[in-house]
Amino acid sequence: MDQPKKPLLDAQEPDTDNNSTTEREHAFGRFSRRSFLAQLGAAGVAATASPLAHATETEAPEKEAPAGVPGAVPVTLNINGKEYRVRLEARVTLLDALRDHLQLFGTKKGCDHGQCGACTVHVNGRRVNSCLSFAIMHQGDKIVTIEGLAQNGQLSPVQQAFLEHDGFQCGYCTPGQIMSATALLREPIDPDDNAVRAAMSGNICRCGAYNNIVAAVQQARGNKPA
Ligand code: FES
Ligand code: FES
Repeated sequence: MDQPKKPLLDAQEPDTDNNSTTEREHAFGRFSRRSFLAQLGAAGVAATASPLAHATETEAPEKEAPAGVPGAVPVTLNINGKEYRVRLEARVTLLDALRDHLQLFGTKKGCDHGQCGACTVHVNGRRVNSCLSFAIMHQGDKIVTIEGLAQNGQLSPVQQAFLEHDGFQCGYCTPGQIMSATALLREPIDPDDNAVRAAMSGNICRCGAYNNIVAAVQQARGNKPA
C-alpha cells in the first residue's frame, strides 16, 4: 500500500462523523483509556459498534438500499470470517460500507482522502485504506477489521503491546495504527525503529503518540524498544 509521508495538516476534525458522540462516550465517559482499547480488541464490536452489528450477518435479512437510490446492487462481503449481504451503490467505499451499512464502527474515518490511515483494514492479508476502495470490488476477498483481531477474548500481540506501551492518547487513530502494525509484522521491514517509523508513516496520530507506537510495534515484532 502506498503510504503518504506528509503530515495531515488539513484533515477535517476526525470526530465529526455521525457516530462521534457515541464513540467519545464509550472512549472517555464510561470507560477508561485502557478499557477502551481492551474493548476495541477483546470485545471488538462492543466498544465501537452498535448493538445492530450482529444483525447484518448472513442469517439476517438482506439490508435494503435507501428508498429512491438507483443503481444499488447486492454485494456479499466476507468480514472477520462472516458473510455479510448488503445492497450498495457501486460508489460506496469499503469504509462507508463498514460504518454506515454494517455498523462496524471500529474502523475510523479521519480524512476520507487516503491521507491519515485511520481507516486501515486488511484485504487478503494486506493493509488497505478502506476510504480509497469501493466495497463492490471486494466480493470474494477476505476482509479483516479491528473487530476481528482478538480471538476468544484474547487481544492480539499488537493490541496487547499497544496497551502495555500506552500507544495511544485519544484513541481515534488507534484501530488504524493497530491494523497497519499487524500487517507490518508480515512485511519485510528492517528491525530498527526508523524502519518501523517509515513503514507506519501512512498512519497519522494527531496526539503525537509516535514513540509509544513504535515501542509497541517493536515489542510485537519481538524487538526490544530502542
Ligand atoms: S480516512 Fe484517512 S486515509 Fe482513509
Ligand atoms: S490521534 Fe489521538 S491517539 Fe492518535
